[in-house]
Amino acid sequence: MNSKVAILTSGGDAPGMNACIRAIVLVCERAGHDIVGYLHGYNGLLSQEYMTLDSRQVHNLAQRGGTILHSARCKPFKTDESGKLAAANLTALGIDTLFVIGGDGSFRGAAHLGKFWQGQIIGLPGTIDNDINGTDATIGYFTAIETAVQSVDKVRDTADAFERVFLVEVMGRHAGFLGLNGAIASASDYVILPELFESEEKTLKDILTQLNERREQRGNVSYIIVLAENLWPGGIADLASRLESLTETEVRPVILGHVQRGGSPVSQDRLLALKLGAYAATLTGSAVTGVMIGEQHGKPVQVPLEDTWKQRKPLDDLSVDTMTLLMNNRYA
Ligand code: F6P
Repeated sequence: MNSKVAILTSGGDAPGMNACIRAIVLVCERAGHDIVGYLHGYNGLLSQEYMTLDSRQVHNLAQRGGTILHSARCKPFKTDESGKLAAANLTALGIDTLFVIGGDGSFRGAAHLGKFWQGQIIGLPGTIDNDINGTDATIGYFTAIETAVQSVDKVRDTADAFERVFLVEVMGRHAGFLGLNGAIASASDYVILPELFESEEKTLKDILTQLNERREQRGNVSYIIVLAENLWPGGIADLASRLESLTETEVRPVILGHVQRGGSPVSQDRLLALKLGAYAATLTGSAVTGVMIGEQHGKPVQVPLEDTWKQRKPLDDLSVDTMTLLMNNRYA
């Protein structure tokens, strides 16, 4: 049976969202479904702002960062009035299936909409933070790691030249996936993560001990600390000035910020986006609804939307063990 399908991208954009849109459009078009893309996340759903999508719009798209549908955070969408308005707009347009590509905030929005709209709702995990329970990785995460690693590599050159301490702040909202794996892959010396943070005092003491041991062994050395955002109570500038007085060394802070959300998706993100998007599209018109399509151990999984945010996703043990063996370690 032919359906009318809608797609929206919501929350922080992530490299690979366009590839996911492409996969959904191609599979749905081939199945004979009509497709529209709502613009500006849930805002477009409230203002009935959309564009028709077919294979022509998604040509040459898999490698493009950002999202052709634009994105937004839509605070008003939490209200019942918004849920009802969105439901009325979807019904007026004759939409049967809605695909939501975004993070946990977007999935909360999708679950809220499900209280007012009887159509099919399917989520796809798109965020650089990788903080979505039920999927091994999220679309955009690998590109953000790559960006962080390339940035730290560059910082390392100047840090080495001056034998300076550098603090590099990475995104992740309240999760440490990007910080942890970015720090490991860039061979950083220390990483400060929300999941493992004990106290300011302990962190400063650890860094000082490690740095002093290195200095005893090798004289002046450069030293790179990766700091997860939203973690250090006084912010990165406070940490830099406290380290400067403790270490009697110049400490320079670098905030990577939104650079980590941009750029062409790396292959791992394209593959994840295309696989999840294509698989999700095959579910159009089925009884599957109110779920996120994720990937676990190389297989697609259907995870109830509520389960994606109810529990905090733990850091993977192998990465934590690797960090312990290679970093935060005075012999590194
Ligand atoms: O969720 C993606 C993300 O980039 C987080 O890593 C970050 O904390 C947040 O979005 C930033 O949000 P905004 O773009 O609204 O400043």
